[in-house]
Amino acid sequence: MGVPELDAPTTARSTRLRRLTAFCFVAVCLSFYLPVFLLDAFDEDDQHTVPIHAQQTLDKCRNLHTKPGPPPDFNLRTESDRFVPGTKATLLRNATIWTGRVDGLEIIKGDLLLDKGSIKGLGVVDAGVLAQYSAADLNTIDAEGAWVSPGIVDMHSHLGVDSAPELLGGDDTNSIKGLVLPWLRSIDGLNTHDDAYKLSISGGLTTAVVLPGSADAIGGQAFVIKLRPTDERSPSSMLLEPPFGLNGSDVDSSLPPRWRQMKHACGENPSRVYGGTRMDTIWAFRQGYETARKIKQSQDQYCDKATAGQWNGIGEFPEDLQWEALVDVLRGRVKVHNHCYEAVDLDGMVRITNEFKFHIAAFHHAHETYLVPDLLKKMYGGPPAVALFATNARYKREAYRGSEFAPSILADNDINVVMKSDHPVLNSRHLLYEAQQAHYYGLPAEIALRAVTTTPAFIMGQDHRIGTVREGYDADIVLWDSHPLALGAAPQQVWIDGIPQLDSPNVVKKPEAFQRVPKTPDFEKEKAAAIKYEGLPPLVPKKTSSTVVFTNVSSVFLREDNRIMQAMLPSADVNVVVKDGKLMCYACDVQESSTDAEYVNLQGGSVAPALISYGSPLGLEHIAAEASTSDGAVGDHLTAKQPAMLGGNGALIRAVDGLQYSTRDALIANRAGVTTGVVAPTSYGFLSGLSCAFSTGAAHKLEGGSVVKPITALHVSVSMSSSTSVSTQISALRKLLLGGGEGELGMAFRDVVDGVLPLIIDVSSADVMATLILLKAEVEQARNVKLQVTFAGATEAHLLAKEIGEAQIGVILNPSRPFPGTWESRRILPGPPISHYNAPGLLLENNVTVGIGIQEPWSARNTRFDVAWAALEMFGEISKADALALASTNLEKLLGLPSEDGDLVVTSGGDLLSMESKVAGIVSPRRGIVELMD
Ligand SMILES: *[C@@H]1O[C@H](CO)[C@@H](O)[C@H](O)[C@H]1NC(C)=O
Ligand SMILES: *[C@@H]1O[C@H](CO)[C@@H](O)[C@H](O)[C@H]1NC(C)=O
Ligand SMILES: *[C@@H]1O[C@H](CO)[C@@H](O)[C@H](O)[C@H]1NC(C)=O
Ligand SMILES: *[C@@H]1O[C@H](CO)[C@@H](O)[C@H](O)[C@H]1NC(C)=O
Repeated sequence: MGVPELDAPTTARSTRLRRLTAFCFVAVCLSFYLPVFLLDAFDEDDQHTVPIHAQQTLDKCRNLHTKPGPPPDFNLRTESDRFVPGTKATLLRNATIWTGRVDGLEIIKGDLLLDKGSIKGLGVVDAGVLAQYSAADLNTIDAEGAWVSPGIVDMHSHLGVDSAPELLGGDDTNSIKGLVLPWLRSIDGLNTHDDAYKLSISGGLTTAVVLPGSADAIGGQAFVIKLRPTDERSPSSMLLEPPFGLNGSDVDSSLPPRWRQMKHACGENPSRVYGGTRMDTIWAFRQGYETARKIKQSQDQYCDKATAGQWNGIGEFPEDLQWEALVDVLRGRVKVHNHCYEAVDLDGMVRITNEFKFHIAAFHHAHETYLVPDLLKKMYGGPPAVALFATNARYKREAYRGSEFAPSILADNDINVVMKSDHPVLNSRHLLYEAQQAHYYGLPAEIALRAVTTTPAFIMGQDHRIGTVREGYDADIVLWDSHPLALGAAPQQVWIDGIPQLDSPNVVKKPEAFQRVPKTPDFEKEKAAAIKYEGLPPLVPKKTSSTVVFTNVSSVFLREDNRIMQAMLPSADVNVVVKDGKLMCYACDVQESSTDAEYVNLQGGSVAPALISYGSPLGLEHIAAEASTSDGAVGDHLTAKQPAMLGGNGALIRAVDGLQYSTRDALIANRAGVTTGVVAPTSYGFLSGLSCAFSTGAAHKLEGGSVVKPITALHVSVSMSSSTSVSTQISALRKLLLGGGEGELGMAFRDVVDGVLPLIIDVSSADVMATLILLKAEVEQARNVKLQVTFAGATEAHLLAKEIGEAQIGVILNPSRPFPGTWESRRILPGPPISHYNAPGLLLENNVTVGIGIQEPWSARNTRFDVAWAALEMFGEISKADALALASTNLEKLLGLPSEDGDLVVTSGGDLLSMESKVAGIVSPRRGIVELMD
C-alpha cells in the first residue's frame, strides 16, 4: 500500500537497482528511483506492459500523499515571488513591533527592513546589510516608537465577488445550480474593480480568503488574495500561492502542493435556497463525499497496482475534473471553511468528518460553538478554528444565541479564534475593530491580535509567509497611529509586498494614552451567564428605589439648552447622588451614615446623557430574518393602491402601533447606554410613515415612560434603487408638500409645512439631495414657511456640506462609517487615513446639525463606540460633550424629541466614549427609576 520508502532502499534492493538501472536508461530513460518500483514488475514478468508515462504516474501516486506546504527551501528565498521590480527598500526605524510570535507575546523595539518583497531585518538591522543601500535606495521612516503589526488577514471575505458598488452582474457570490458544487471557484468571479480593496487596505487589511457564498452546501473553492493592485491588473495576479494547475501550468510534482481552500455551508442558508431541510443538506454533503470517496478509493487502488508494478491492463488514472477538489479534501489537502452556526449543524458536520475522515479548518459564523466546545474536539483530525463576528448576532434564528463572550469562552477552551468580516456584511476595512471588541469583552490582547493576523494565516496554511513579522516573511506590514487594540486605530502606512499602499496618509501618531493595550472591564459574571443560559441570559437590570451614591466619578456631562456641557468638577473623584430617576446632586456632601443608600464605586467613572438609536428597525422586530418576529413592512403608496379601510392614498402608518418591547437587541442597547430608540415603519418604498420614540429598557407599552413620544417625525425615502423613478418620487413629495395630500397623510404634511413635524428624508445621492434642497426652497417660498428637514443615510452629504448647512437641513449619517455599497452612495468621504475629514467632521464644520445612526438593530449597543470613533477621526477637534451630542441631543433636535427629562447613563472605569469603561447604571426621569447593571 502507499508509496515505497524511497529514502531507505534495502541492500538487496540496491543491488538489483544497479542491475536494473542500465535497462532503465535504455528503455524509458527515467529518474533515479523508478527502477525500485519496477522490481516487482520484473518478478511478475510483465515488464513489457510498463507504460511510457509510468514515471509520471508513479510521481503522481507518490504526490497524492504529500501534504501541502511551502517547498523545503522556502525560507531561504532571497526575493519574494510577489516582488515588484523597482520597489524601493524601506527602513522603518524605532518601531514597537508586535510580531505575533511567542503566543503573541513578543514585542520587539527596533527597526524593520523591507526589501525584495520580504522582511530583511528585524530589531537591530545589521549595519553591514544597511551599508549595501545608498540613501537614495532606501526609504527611511522614523516610526517614533509607534506600533507595527503584521498586515491584517481576513479569513472570510467576499471582496471582489460581492463587490461595491453593487451592480447587476456584480454579485458572483453564489451559484444556485446545485447543493454540491466543489468544482466552482471564486477566482472566476473576482472583480478587480471592487471599490472596497483600497478602503480595506486603508484599515490595514493586506490578505483575504475570498469565499463563495453560503447558498450551497458545497459552494466551491475559495482563493487567498492580496489586496494591492498589481501591474497585470488581473485576478490571477492577486493570488497568494495559487494551487498548482490553476492556470493550466503543469503540476510541479517535485514540490509539495499548495494549500487549497473550500467553502461549505450548513443549516438554514442552503436549506432555504433549495427549499429543503437540514436533512436534505446533510444528505447532499454525504452524497458528495461518497462520490469523492469512491474516486479516491479507485485512485488509491490504481496507485497500489502501479507501485506494485502491476501495469497490465491498468488503464487511465481515475480522475474527474468535477470532483477532484473534493477528493483533495479527503486527502487532507484542502482547508475547509464551513459556514455553520447551531449545535445541530455543528454536530452534523462533526459526524460527517468522522464518517468520511477529513478535517474542517474552521467553522465560520459559528454562533453556538462556544456552547459546545467538547463537540468541536470530536472533529476528525482535531478541533477546528472558529471564525466569528464580535457583536453582530441575533439576525436569524441561527445567530440568536450569539454572544459577545464567545471569543473569550472559546479561547478558554483552547480553540483557535479568528475574527472575520464576511465582507461586505461587515466592512473589512474595520476587521481590526472586531478584534478590539472581542478584547473588550474578555479575549486576551495577544489572542485578539493574533485572531486577525497570525491565527488566520495559520488556519489557511499560509503561516510560512504572512501573519507574522519575521525575517524572510512577506513584507505585509502596518504602521499604526496607536496600539492596534485601541478604538479607532488607523494605519499611518500599510505595506504589501514591501510596497507602501497609502498616498500621503492623513494620520499622525496619537497621544500616549492610546499607545498601550486598553484595560478591559470585568465581564466574568456576564460571560458565565452566557453559558449558563445557553446564550439567552437575562438582560433586565436591577431596579432600585434606594438612594444611590456613585463615588469616584471623574466626569459629569449634562444637558443645557439642547446642548451637552461638561461640568467643572472640583476633583477627579466626586460623588453623584441619584434617586427615583433623578439626579439629586453631583460633587455633593454625602452623609456617609445614611443607611438606606447604596454605594457604587465607579473607579473614575462618568455620568452623561444617555444615547439614542435611530435608523434600524430596533423596537419593531426580534430577529431580522424571521418575518414572524417582526412588525413587517408597510405598503408602498407609489406602486400599490392602499386599502380603502386605511384611507386609500391618505393612509399613514405609525410605528408606535407596531412597537415590540424586550427585544434582546433593545435590552442589550439599554445595557450599553442607549436608552431611547426612534423607529419609523419599515418601508421598501417612498413613504414610510410616522416614527415614535420608545424606551429600550421598558417591559411593555403600558409601563410608565415606555413611549417617550408617540409621533416624532414623518419619514420618506428618495432612492435610485427604488422601483419608481427618482423624478416620480420627487414629484410625489412636491405634491404632498404643496398641499396635495389626502386624509391622514395630507394632515401630516400640513404639520410638516407648519413646522411642527420634522420631515426625515432617507437619501444617499448628492444629486438627489441637491434636488431636495431646491424643492425645500420652492415650498418655503410658495407657502411662506420654514420646513424642518433632515437627510438620513446621507452618505454623499459631504459633497454638499456647505449647501446643506446654508439650507439649514440636518444630517443623520447612517451608518456612521461609510461604505460605497450602492451606486447612489458610492462617493463616500472615507475619513483618515485616506481623507483628512470624515463626514461628520466636515458637516459640523459647515454648521450642519449632525447625528449618527445605525442600520441593523444588533449594532445599537455599539453606538457609544461609533460616536467615540467618529470623534477620534476628528483629531481631537471636537469636545467629548459635542461628540456625545452626535447620538443624543443632536438626534433629539433632528427627530423632534423632547429635550427635557432625558435619561442619564452611568459608567465605571472611564467615560461613555472610552473602550475601557462599562455601563454601570441608567437614571431615567421619564420612567422614574434607577437601574444598576450588577
Ligand atoms: C523612539 O521613539 C520614542 C518616541 O518618540 C522616543 O522616546 C525614543 O527616544 C526613540 N528611540 C530611539 C532609539 O530613537
Ligand atoms: C501560472 O501560474 C504560475 C504560478 O503562479 C506562474 O508562475 C505562471 O507564470 C502562470 N502561467 C501563466 C500562463 O499564466
Ligand atoms: C478612583 O478611581 C481611580 C481610577 O480612576 C482609582 O485609581 C482610585 O483608586 C479610585 N479611588 C478610590 C478611593 O476608589
Ligand atoms: C458656522 O457658524 C459660525 C458661528 O456662527 C460662523 O462663524 C461660521 O462662518 C459658519 N461657517 C459656515 C461654513 O457657514
